[in-house]
Amino acid sequence: MAISYNLLIKNGRVYTSVGLKSIDIWIKNGKISSLGGPHHAEETINARGMLVLPGAIDVHVHFREPGATYKENWESGSLSAAAGGVTTVIDQPNTEPKTLDSRSFKLKLDLASHNSVVDFCINGGPGIINDLVKSGVTAIGEVFSYEFSDIELQKILKEVETAHALPTIHSEDREVVEQETEAWKHLHDPIIYSKARPNKAEAVAIEKALSWSKNLHICHLSTLEGLELIREAKGKGIKVTCEVAPHHLLFDIKDYLKQKSFLKVNPPLRNSKDCNALWIGLRDGSIDILASDHAPHLPEEKKDDIWEAPPGVPGVETMLPLMLMAVKRNLLSLERLVDAVSTKPAYVFGLTSKGSIEVGKDADLVVVDSKRISQINADRLHSRADWTPYEGKPAIFPQMTLVRGQVVYDGDLQIRPGYGRFLEKQRVLS
Ligand code: DOR
Repeated sequence: MAISYNLLIKNGRVYTSVGLKSIDIWIKNGKISSLGGPHHAEETINARGMLVLPGAIDVHVHFREPGATYKENWESGSLSAAAGGVTTVIDQPNTEPKTLDSRSFKLKLDLASHNSVVDFCINGGPGIINDLVKSGVTAIGEVFSYEFSDIELQKILKEVETAHALPTIHSEDREVVEQETEAWKHLHDPIIYSKARPNKAEAVAIEKALSWSKNLHICHLSTLEGLELIREAKGKGIKVTCEVAPHHLLFDIKDYLKQKSFLKVNPPLRNSKDCNALWIGLRDGSIDILASDHAPHLPEEKKDDIWEAPPGVPGVETMLPLMLMAVKRNLLSLERLVDAVSTKPAYVFGLTSKGSIEVGKDADLVVVDSKRISQINADRLHSRADWTPYEGKPAIFPQMTLVRGQVVYDGDLQIRPGYGRFLEKQRVLS
């Protein structure tokens, strides 16, 4: 008897592992079961005139739950992800309580399992590392290097290595940041924040991390110097990968003029020469991954003095739409974009069922009409942050987002919170 499929996505231009193809996608039990037909399916989505891409995997989000749920929670954060074409997220451990042991891990797992609309992973912080790894965390980090002494950092990296886990490092050297902050803290122009955490802080932190660990991931790279160190290390065969956030590509220190402390982020905004270098690194693949560092805070908090405002901007919903626009403007190839938001994240973080449109993979898909450009408007976004640094910027939002063959968002939420599944760690490839 012929197999009956649950869903057919027909007439789309599909981004397969051999590039764009006009091919039908047949889905059964949440998996891509056949590329090309004909077969029979219970339901059909007509994607004529549309691109069908693998869902984005955002390896760096701060969904704030448990803890500061007035800024974000699993439901709002994951809805925001789905609306922006993100089908899997990796949540960071700096919640309240911090995810530092199996107990805090289980608390977060329970909240996410009941409320997430997209699939999710949970990172553990530098706490009881063995315990966290056994619980199924995806990686250890982000480790905020400026919170630790060199001796403490070396100890953390050693423990992560012994536990066969991947460390992800927020690279800003404590000593440099403390020294420079002391020198600038009497001034209040937002640009001072970038001087207080200079390029050197990132370069020194990366250099040290590379000397202490031979398998690591660098979070939100922001400087030319950091990029050069990573290129050099990759050239020597060191297993280092890195990510860049849209805000470090799209804003530089001149943007403080208009948005002031709303653009306070860690690491801080840099010069246009750093932005240009990051674009080059992203294009040539020296920067492996695009990740949002979605870090929601409320406008009331962000409008404070530069030293008082919390660092971070929301971004999970706007990352793919902004970058699809960058593809349209020839700043990035579609091939590299898909690699940086889907394929590479799946590879680096060991998400073997995710990341590409291939038979046997989860049917995590985004349907995109690349002719439909709209202006970003915070009123139409879903984060509890309720503002965006990208207000008015042109972007291409997906028409539809599917997770494991189920439409989760098509302008409206189509499933119940709790549909998202936890992806237990399946070991980093070595
Ligand atoms: O700007 C940032 N905000 N950078 C980080 O690394 C953390 C984040 C947050 O959690 O608010």
